[in-house]
Amino acid sequence: MNYRHAFHAGNFADVVKHVVLARILAYLGRKHAPYRVIDTHAGAGLYDLQGDEARRTGEWEGGIGAVLRHSFAPDIAALLAPWLEAVRAVNPPAEDATLAADLRHYPGSPLIAQALTRPQDRLLFCETVAGVRDALAESVGRDARAKVLVTDAWQALHAYLPPKERRGLVLVDPPFEEPGEFHRLAQGLIEAHRRWSTGIYALWYPIKDVRAVDAFRREIERAGIPKTLSVQFDLRAVRQADTMTGCGMIIVNPPFTLAEELRALLGALAPVLATDGTGRARVGWLTPER
Ligand SMILES: C[S@@+](CC[C@H](N)C(=O)[O-])C[C@H]1O[C@@H](n2cnc3c(N)ncnc32)[C@H](O)[C@@H]1O
Repeated sequence: MNYRHAFHAGNFADVVKHVVLARILAYLGRKHAPYRVIDTHAGAGLYDLQGDEARRTGEWEGGIGAVLRHSFAPDIAALLAPWLEAVRAVNPPAEDATLAADLRHYPGSPLIAQALTRPQDRLLFCETVAGVRDALAESVGRDARAKVLVTDAWQALHAYLPPKERRGLVLVDPPFEEPGEFHRLAQGLIEAHRRWSTGIYALWYPIKDVRAVDAFRREIERAGIPKTLSVQFDLRAVRQADTMTGCGMIIVNPPFTLAEELRALLGALAPVLATDGTGRARVGWLTPER
């Protein structure tokens, strides 16, 4: 497998995924009771935006770079704040400088979760590529709340559900490098939901092969899992073969605040992240509450 997230860290798709992640964690943090985060495809955790990979694609400039150049209305800025707080946490501030001026590193999902969770919460990160796992262990550092495992994502969904906290989030963010990934993702969700039906699940997917996306969404719909929110974010109206022109997320058991928040947030992000002004966000229920 060749996938290296370092080429894509901080791009528009990371922004969408991480904004959703941060809103869910902000909600879970409202109650004192502990919760667990399980990140099944964790990646390296921290990315150097001046590193060779990030510089070669420059994708982050149209993602986190574009967000930091923009001035948002106060209600949108408040919704973005937890995610940007996690970005700030890995970019130590120079005196009087803005985050845009300080930006050098971008946190992956494990470091965003680490920044937004509390002492009573627990974190489980899975990453199967040895070198990436080592980088992840180093970026997570000494944190008694967190475990970094080489466990395969799909096995982790069997082995670690339900968690003893009984509250929490499972983030499933595969690289989509191998055939059958959409089907594996749908089946992984269906089986995980059987084991733990009250957990929050957030699944990410690329919009590239629209037929595969439709089949995946239908597979989830047919499974009859209730309370499934769908987020689709298109960078541009015109699709291009073999190019990721958007991304989507399926969120099961979302916080009751999430749909409204994401309509506002992603609506405000669309013109900022979209390259030609035709970007749009769609937030709606794939399956309703039972
Ligand atoms: C899209 S990246 C993860 C990005 C990360 N979630 C983030 O938002 O920062 C996918 C990662 O999953 C890892 N991976 C691929 N197959 C896996 C599997 N079966 N189990 C666990 N990790 C896997 C890849 O090595 C890669 O680092």
